[in-house]
Amino acid sequence: METRHPIPFQLIELQDVCFTIQKDGEDVNLVNQVSLKVPKGHFMAIVGPSGCGKTTLLKTIAGLNPESAGSLIWDGRNLSEDEDFEPTEIGYVPQFSIAYDPLTVDESVEAATRLRVKSRNSSELDRRIDRVLDETGLTGIADRKVKVLSGGQKRRLGLAMELVSDPRLLLCDEVTSGLDPRSEREIVRLLHDLSRKGGRIVMSVTHSLAHLELYDSVLVLHEGCVAFHGPPDQLTHYFSVNDTEEVYPRLASQGGERWLVSWRKHNDSYREMMMKKRDKLIESGSLQVPEEPVPVSRNDRDETHKSTKTTPKENGEPKTTTPLVSRALPLPGFLGQFSTLLSRRWRIFFRDRTQVLLQLAILVIFPIIITLFSDKAGDNIKRYSDFKSDNMLIEYKEQAEVMADQAKVGAAVSGIIMFQVVLLSLMGSNNSAREIAGERQVYEKEKFGGLRPSAYLASKIVFLACLVVTQSLYMAFFVESFGGEFRGNFMDHAIFLLLINASMTAICLAISALMRTAEQASLLSIYLVGFQLPLSGSVLALPAHIDAFTRPFISAYWAWSGSVEALQNQVYDAVKSVIDTSLTAQQICLTVLGIHIAVALIAALAGVCRPQWD
Ligand SMILES: Nc1ncnc2c1ncn2[C@@H]1O[C@H](COP(=O)(O)OP(=O)(O)OP(=O)(O)O)[C@@H](O)[C@H]1O
Ligand SMILES: [Mg+2]
Repeated sequence: METRHPIPFQLIELQDVCFTIQKDGEDVNLVNQVSLKVPKGHFMAIVGPSGCGKTTLLKTIAGLNPESAGSLIWDGRNLSEDEDFEPTEIGYVPQFSIAYDPLTVDESVEAATRLRVKSRNSSELDRRIDRVLDETGLTGIADRKVKVLSGGQKRRLGLAMELVSDPRLLLCDEVTSGLDPRSEREIVRLLHDLSRKGGRIVMSVTHSLAHLELYDSVLVLHEGCVAFHGPPDQLTHYFSVNDTEEVYPRLASQGGERWLVSWRKHNDSYREMMMKKRDKLIESGSLQVPEEPVPVSRNDRDETHKSTKTTPKENGEPKTTTPLVSRALPLPGFLGQFSTLLSRRWRIFFRDRTQVLLQLAILVIFPIIITLFSDKAGDNIKRYSDFKSDNMLIEYKEQAEVMADQAKVGAAVSGIIMFQVVLLSLMGSNNSAREIAGERQVYEKEKFGGLRPSAYLASKIVFLACLVVTQSLYMAFFVESFGGEFRGNFMDHAIFLLLINASMTAICLAISALMRTAEQASLLSIYLVGFQLPLSGSVLALPAHIDAFTRPFISAYWAWSGSVEALQNQVYDAVKSVIDTSLTAQQICLTVLGIHIAVALIAALAGVCRPQWD
């Protein structure tokens, strides 16, 4: 009978994995034929000089960079052919912070948990949060705001937010960089401890060659190639140097591919050393690795998947193994993620005092500005008398008076409507231009962790809809009360004000979802608003051939035109007498604005579904 090796099988294996990009028409391998095998319960450092491809390798393992060649085997599953990791079985702590400054540590971990793990009840949720805070040493500062945390505390928080789903593979990118030596050691120790229980693999990218003794293995990368992967105490011996600090200068002495060729000759013997060390750790009880499928408590999961797979025979491991029961925790549903995001968005909004004050100032000041210009819009327009005078002079005089009144009132009414439309367009762009682009990296990270793009977008739509309704109706009713009554159907007018704000908010949300940076999104949105007034034709008519092309896209025209159509006949005629631009029936205006909103939301959905990592 075959003896069972303490290591049932490799949990993750890379076979000649490459990540290739095109540069000047040529293929460049940023990750070059990387092969490695990592067993359960392993703490591995990925080191190498800046730009050698550490982050790229980590992203390739995580599935964020699709491998160009080679295979990635996880838990007996070929990820290059089958489906990717379950979002909850992998944790990825990126180089940037993934927490929102205005929230507290506790709130950040709670939101991360609610977004990633389906909890049966609040006590189960609380237990999970408390456990993670405890594991990462954050319990004492749970109510502290993220913005006041130290660098080390922020890194712990980043880890905590990943640990909420109990990932079996934890990938960390430079979580110790920029920390003082003590904090660095504490974090490395924490990562070490996280790999000791439950068979979790922790791979940590670092520049630093300090504290290597805490790792089970060190992978040295040079120009995308593996130059070494073995026990840390063998590093200096392999590179024939006296001190680890001399490893990088030594690496520079030859190219990555040559290091790879040398490494392939030694790979097996160093691997054997790693395995022996590991066996000793297991025997001494310092490393706890579940050999059999992990027993999963009923509380923790909904379903288990058991299957028997064949893995290559190696190191005396059985040829056919029963993989670990997939411990991937179930994700929360759409509604759970949506409500978590929405309540987090409101919390962040109300905690950002500048944002609240700015919104209030815009809300209050813009309608006041409009009322200052509205006195002429309420003036009477002289009517033609019913009796025709025989006196031509009297007739001309009357006509001139009527026309003068029409010009004065028509220009004022049209101007007031357009003024409201333009200011609401500005509010719309201010509402949403940065909404997605400003938090894109955090969102990408959350999407990687299982957040549904549809839940994310829905939370943005509901949040923004509240702003749009408040701004538009406040504007409409304030001007109605203090700037003189709308001389026509006020409700129609209010609906068009609501629609222009909704339309610009939706369009700028789409821009925010499609642009790479918040600056690009803001700039484009401001230009878009800036062009609304001249291209609407409300001030000066455009040449017909330009007008035909631009009009369909200018939301301000449709809101202005729809609103003018709501005016009573006499005022409507007055407006018509001062403009050269043709007006369009209300139904068509409504339809076009509806199309603008729908197309913008579809574009925003496409934008949030598209991966956009830096
Ligand atoms: N998508 C990409 N397109 C083009 N070049 C890329 C891409 N991703 C990474 N690179 C380049 O590949 C190289 C490796 O980048 P990577 O970020 O992996 O390095 P690193 O080892 O993590 O560096 P550091 O230690 O400074 O974080 C760099 O020269 C980088 O500019
Ligand atoms: Mg990096």
